[in-house]
Formats: sequence, C-alpha cells, structure tokens
Amino acid sequence: MRFKEEINKRRTFGIISHPDAGKTTLTEKLLLFGGAINEAGAVKSHKIKRGATSDFMEIERQRGISVSTSVLAFNYNERKINILDTPGHKDFAEDTFRTLTAVDSVIVVIDVAKGVEEQTEKLVEVCRMRQIPVIVFINKLDREGKDAFDLLDELEKKLKFNVCPLSFPIGMGYDFQGIYNIWEKNLMLFNQDNKQRISKTVNITDLEDKSLNEFIGEKPSKKLKEEVNIIKEVYPKFNQCDYLSCKQQPVFFGSALNNFGVKELLDCFISIAPSPLPKESIERIINPNELKFSGFVFKIHANMDPKHRDRLAFIKIVSGIFKRNKPYHHVRINKNFKFSSPNAFFAEKKEIVNESYPGDIVGVHDSGNFKIGDSFTEGENINFKGIPSFSPEHFRFINNQDPMKSKQLAKGIDQLMDEGVAQLFILELNGRKIIGTVGALQFEVIQYRLEHEYGAKCSYENINIHKACWVESTEKISNEFIEFKKLKNKFLAKDKSKNLVFLADSSFSLEMTKQKFKSIKFHYKSEF
Ligand code: G4P
Repeated sequence: MRFKEEINKRRTFGIISHPDAGKTTLTEKLLLFGGAINEAGAVKSHKIKRGATSDFMEIERQRGISVSTSVLAFNYNERKINILDTPGHKDFAEDTFRTLTAVDSVIVVIDVAKGVEEQTEKLVEVCRMRQIPVIVFINKLDREGKDAFDLLDELEKKLKFNVCPLSFPIGMGYDFQGIYNIWEKNLMLFNQDNKQRISKTVNITDLEDKSLNEFIGEKPSKKLKEEVNIIKEVYPKFNQCDYLSCKQQPVFFGSALNNFGVKELLDCFISIAPSPLPKESIERIINPNELKFSGFVFKIHANMDPKHRDRLAFIKIVSGIFKRNKPYHHVRINKNFKFSSPNAFFAEKKEIVNESYPGDIVGVHDSGNFKIGDSFTEGENINFKGIPSFSPEHFRFINNQDPMKSKQLAKGIDQLMDEGVAQLFILELNGRKIIGTVGALQFEVIQYRLEHEYGAKCSYENINIHKACWVESTEKISNEFIEFKKLKNKFLAKDKSKNLVFLADSSFSLEMTKQKFKSIKFHYKSEF
C-alpha cells in the first residue's frame, strides 16, 4: 500500500522557456515555497549567463555546479516534487530534449512582452511528440506587455494549444492591480506602493458582488467582468482528463520575480499534474506500480576532476522500488550492476539513498559503461522508447592533431558522445568522423574536454551540411534503395548506433532526393 502512496505523491516535471522568460526565477520561487532554499538568488547563480556564448571555461564551471541543480526535489503539501532542470542556453537544447523524456509534465514560461518565442516553439513540439501535459505561466505581468487575449491567441496559433485560462490579470504593467484566480475564485491584489507584496487576497465567489468595485475600482471591475465573461464563452472549461491527455493547456498569469501568482500555480499544479505515468518500451508498456524495478538513463554527467573519468548517470525510475546494493540488469550490455552509493538530489545537496520510487531520479556512479537511453531492470529485457537524436544544426569534420594520441581521441569522442554532448557520424565512403551539434559552442567544449580530460588534441574542418536525415526503407534490397545508396554515396554516414543517415548539403538537394526516391523516408530524428 505504501508503495502506491509513494507513487501518487510524486510530481516529476520540467520548466521550459525561451531564455530570459523567467524559468530560473520561477524555479527559485517554487523552491522557496517548498522550503527547499532559504534565500532568493541560490539557483540564479547556477545559471549559464546569457552572453557567455564563447566562454567555455564558464560552461565548464557551470557543468560542475549543475550536477546539484539537475534535480531539485522538495516536499510540499504532502507531495514530493522533483523539478528536472533544463539548460536555458539554446546550444544545449538537445540536453533539454532528453530531460523531457524523464518528466511527467511541463510548465512553460512565457514572457508577457515577448509572447511565444522560437525556443518555446521547439520545446513545445517535443512535448507534443511525447504527449507531455503542459501548464502555461505567463510571466512578468508587472511590466507592460501584450494584451492577455492576444497572448492566448498566440498560444493557440503558434503552439497549437487549446488554452484554458485559470487566472486572469487585472491591468498590466503600471496599471497592474492583481490577478483574478478563476481556479480558486479569488482576487489577489498587489500592494500598490510595493509591488513585491500581495496586499490582500479576497474571496470573490461572484464577480457581480458590489464589493469588487471597492477593491479594484469601477472601471477595472467592469473590464474584468467583461473579460471573464468572454473567457467563459470562448474558452473551454477546465477538464483534467483533457489536460492530462494534452487536449487542453491551463494558463496562469503572474510575476515570478514578485512572487505573484506563483503559489497559486504551485497549488493548482500539485492537484492537477500527473503522478508518474506508464512508459512505453519497444517490448511493452511499463506501469509505475509494477513491483519490479525498471528505469532508464536520461543524462550522463562527467565529473569535473580530469584525473578521474568518473561520471554520474541519472536514472529515472519507471517502476518498482530502486534499492541500494541490489544487482540490476543492464539490458544493452547484458550484465548486472550494483550501486553502493546512489544519490538522491535535493535543492542544494545530494544524499545517498537506500530506496527510491517511480518518478524519482537517482544518480549512480558510472565508469564509462553507460549511455543515454540505457535501461536497468530486474532481469527483463526492456528498451525504453522516446530518447531520439534530432538532426544537429552544425557539422564539422573532426581531425586528430596528435598521431600518438589517436586512441585517446577515439575514446574521448566515444565517451563524450555517450554523454550526449554532440552526435558523431562516420562517413560510409572513407570513415571520416563528423561531429554534429545543436549550437556552435559545443565544438569548443568538446575540444577543451578532449584535451583536458583525455589528453587528445583535435582540430575541426568545415563541411557543408544542411541537415542529417535518418533513412527509412522498408525494402533494403529494392532497386531504388540500391540506386539511392550508389548515387548519394558521398553523403551517407552511420550514426553511433550504426543507423544510416543522409547528410543533405542543402534543403534543395534534400527535396530533390525525396522526390526521386519516393519509397525511402527521411526523418529529422533517429526514432520514427
Ligand atoms: P531564464 O531562466 O528563463 O533565462 O530567465 P531568468 O529567470 O533568469 O529571468 C530573466 C530576467 O527576467 C532576469 O533579469 C529576471 O530577474 C527577470 N524576471 C523574471 N521574472 C520577472 C518578473 O516577473 N518581472 C520582471 N520585471 N522581471 C522578471 P536580469 O536582469 O536578466 O537578471 P538579474 O540581474 O535579475 O539576475
């Protein structure tokens, strides 16, 4: 019985946003409410600052710190909350995509002045693909921004959301008076002199109540009534099943910096967000309340100490109870591993744990055996789905600069790729290695780490590649497939799992190839 209660208690989620929308600030405020940290600024200093685009030393420093912020766990109202940190820097988007395989729901933060931005669109697309329930938090209401209805429109058009506002702002920027909480039917009013504080919370069961005028003034109260009427007419009523099945996205307004609307968001979140969900594997669907343990690696973190190539692998527990010192079956390499010091993470510290439950994340020591996507079980062969690689944006040949160190270089490249720093493609034609990354910054990180951790020197050479497409052909011996391989020989490569990839040099040539070889499918991600 306790096992089921432990599962139901857990809420494992990620906060995503375009950089600067307020993800770090919101995370910090949630931790403050949960009593996990005592002062504002604790999380902030861990963030990779904007403008550090070429400062890889800073990235290195951050990499060390970010182990402790990878999972931010705390208890709140008898729930165990696990926030999985996602890097805000767009060059690390792939990291965020992978972290999204381990969350059960997501909060998207939108800047009221900027609306839906590019990075948000990409991340929401991944949530849609993975069927992750989403709540939206529109932030920075203390500033002038877009009209609330225009923003709701934008969410519908750009993110294809079916929005359901659960709160609504009273004024904005200079005129911002507070928020009407549709969910709890109360008004939260800002302290006009000091916008850092909520002056009062008023329960208003009926907006027609005359006292509304007293609280916010005649004009704003008339406007609020009209707006709430529009909401009732235009938007669907909140339906938890629709939210959980991604057919509806609740929207909150507030200001993370000013603590405004954050507690309301958290209170609603813990009551509607899903506890750990079943997870699909190639073999079958695994339910969290199955008694046997299963889990998968979604993140690997290299240690900062260059002398020890130890790594920390983050395992999301899917089912059963994970126990310290119990042997678990590593499905890919068909070997048993025992973990004597698995770590659980709390906001500012990590601790060795004896038991962990579905929804939790444990960090285990890895001496170079594990890869992202690896599964652990009590013996069953389970391969979890949903950790695809996406086509990188930047490609370069990687060359060895020191012939005496070719072994070290190969090992370094291998391990960095297992960690998911970038993707490796090996050309079919001549075996040359190509590194593909989401952001240009990773090339510097790789070069630096190869030198400092593996003693290997590399250089890069430009190559003109537009996109990497994973090739799917149902008939591998068809004439068309043979002709495709012959004609495009120069552009074909294998990824790390030996899948065939077409490296198109332009969108035009990709289009032409698609037209010519109709029986072959080209995918922008490795799982299809
Ligand atoms: P991110 O993690 O999504 O990149 O955003 P972050 O929380 O770092 O917030 C980006 C900037 O927006 C920060 O200002 C932060 O203080 C500010 N901010 C966050 N929430 C609100 C809000 O509700 N209202 C207002 N007015 N600002 C908000 P910064 O100047 O870039 O950083 P800092 O000097 O405050 O650290």
